[in-house]
Amino acid sequence: MFRKLILISSVALIVAACSKPAAEISIIPVPQSVILKSGSFKVPGSVFSYDATTMDAMGKGHILDFASAVTAVTGKPSPVKESLSNKGFSFAVDPTLDPEEYAISISSKSVKVRASQGVGFLYAIQTLKQMLPTAFFEGKTANSEKWVLPAVEIQDKPRFAYRGMHMDPCRHFFDVDEVKKYLDVMALHKLNRLHWHLTEDQGWRIEIKKYPKLTEVGAYRDQTVVGKNFDPFVGDGVRYGGYYTQEQIKEVVAYAANLGITVIPEVDLPGHMIAAVASYPYLGCTGKQFKVWERWGVADEVLCPGKETTFEFLEGVLEEVMELFPSEYIHIGGDECPKTYWKTCPHCQKKIKELGLKSDDKHSAEDYLQNYVTERVQSFINAHGRKIIGWDEILEGNLAKGATVMSWRGVAGGIEAAKNGFDAIMTPNSYMYFDYFQSNELDKEPLGIGGYLPIDTVYSYEPYKGIPEEARHHILGVQANLWTEYIASNEHLEYNLLPRLDALSEVQWCDPEKKDFERFKKSLERMCKIYDILGYTYSKQVFGEAGFPGHEGRPD
Ligand code: ACM
Ligand code: ZN
Repeated sequence: MFRKLILISSVALIVAACSKPAAEISIIPVPQSVILKSGSFKVPGSVFSYDATTMDAMGKGHILDFASAVTAVTGKPSPVKESLSNKGFSFAVDPTLDPEEYAISISSKSVKVRASQGVGFLYAIQTLKQMLPTAFFEGKTANSEKWVLPAVEIQDKPRFAYRGMHMDPCRHFFDVDEVKKYLDVMALHKLNRLHWHLTEDQGWRIEIKKYPKLTEVGAYRDQTVVGKNFDPFVGDGVRYGGYYTQEQIKEVVAYAANLGITVIPEVDLPGHMIAAVASYPYLGCTGKQFKVWERWGVADEVLCPGKETTFEFLEGVLEEVMELFPSEYIHIGGDECPKTYWKTCPHCQKKIKELGLKSDDKHSAEDYLQNYVTERVQSFINAHGRKIIGWDEILEGNLAKGATVMSWRGVAGGIEAAKNGFDAIMTPNSYMYFDYFQSNELDKEPLGIGGYLPIDTVYSYEPYKGIPEEARHHILGVQANLWTEYIASNEHLEYNLLPRLDALSEVQWCDPEKKDFERFKKSLERMCKIYDILGYTYSKQVFGEAGFPGHEGRPD
C-alpha cells in the first residue's frame, strides 16, 4: 500500500511537473515527459563527446554537425572528443532504448544525451535545437544571445511508428532543392516517411531506363488548364514538365535516410496513368495516342489489364523502382480507376472470362479485374521482399493478405481494413488533406481545390477513433497528403504545408493526454520565427491573419 502511495504521488508529481514546463519549453512535437529543474547550462565552449566504438555513422555525423553549428553561433570553439566525458555535451549509446527513443538530462554541468541509434540522437539534437534561442537557426555568430539550456529531464519516444507526409511533384514539379527543404522541415518535426507520388496523368516524374519515353514524352504536357476553366477548356499554352533522374532519386533517398526518413515511392496504377499511355499507347485499351493530360480530375484512359504487355511494363518499371528505393513498402496507388474502357475492351473482357470473374450485388466484374491487377502486382512486389500500400479503393472486392491500406476517403477505409486484419495508414481527407483551404476567408487565399481544413481540425484528429481496441495494432500511423493541382510554386507548397505540419507531428508523436491546443499554439509562435529564419512560407491563419500576400505562382 505504502509503495503504491509513493508510486501514485510520484506519478502525480511528474504529471504536475510535465504540464507546466511543457508550456515554458517550446518544442514541437512536445516530448512525452519534460521535468524542469532549477538552473541552466552554459553552452559556449562546451566539449562534445561520444564513444567512437559504439556510435553509428549517422549519430556521429549529426553530433559533429551540431558541434560545428554550436561553435558557429556561440563564436567559441566546441571541441569534439571520441570518448565519453562527464562534462559538456555527451552522447551515450544506450541499447535499452527503442530505435527512435531518446533521453536528455541537463544540469548546470552537463547535457547528457542517450539513444540506441543514430535516429534517436538526431531527434535529441532536434529537441535541443528547439530549446536554444531561435538565432541558432541563423547559423552565424550571435554574441548578444544568451546561449544557455534550462536544466531539465526529457524522456521521449513516438506514439506511432509511421509518421508520414506526402508530396505530389506530378501536377506541379518541385526540384531536388525543394524536396530537400521539405525533408528538412519534416525531420525538424520528427516525421519519418516521405510518400513520394511520382506518376500521374499530368506528368511522369521518375526516369526509367527501360522505358525512356516515360520521361521524354510523359514528363511534359503541352499546357495547363487556367484556374478551373475545364468546360469550355482554357489552357495557358505553356509547355510544362520535369522529372527526377535516377541519380537525383538516389541523392534524395540518401539525404532523407540521413534525416531518419524513408522515402516510399508511389507508382499509381492502373488509373491515373495517361502520361504512361501517352508515352506507350499500347498500354491503353484502344492503342490510341493520347496526350499527357492538361487538366485536373479523374480520367477514363487507364492501363489495359487485358494484355500481358501491360504487366511486362509494370514489372519493368517496378524493378527499377525497387532498385532505387530500399523502402519496405512500395505504394501502388489503386485510387480512382474508372472502368469505362474495360467494359468494352475485347482484351479486358477476354481476361474477365478467362479468370471467371462475375459481377455481384456489390461489385462489377471489372471491379474484380482491378483486384486481379492489385494481386498480380502485389505478388511481384512480395517476391522481391517488399510489401504494398494502396489507397482504400483496394479494399473493394477481394484484397490479398499482407496489403496495407491508406485510408483517404475519410476514416472508413482504415476502420474496415483494421477490422479485417489489414494494416492501415490513416490519411483521412477530413483531417489530413493539406491541399484544402486553411481559412474560410477565400478572398484572401490563393485558388485551391476546395475543402476547409484549419489547423485546429488537423490537431484534433484521434487516429484510434472508431477502431476497436483489439484492431488498433493495425494502425501503423498517420500521414497528411498535399496534392498540387493548384499549387505551382515552392512558396505556395510551403504555405499549404506549414504550420499544419506542426499539428500533424503532434498527432503522430504525442499521446492524446499530452495534446493541448493552447500550449501548442503558443509554441507555434516560436516555430514560426524559425520558419522566418529558414525562409519557409507559412500561413498565419492560426494567429488571426488569413491570406498569402504577394505569392508567386500560376495565375489563379
Ligand atoms: C486520392 O486523393 N485520390 C488518393
Ligand atoms: Zn483493356
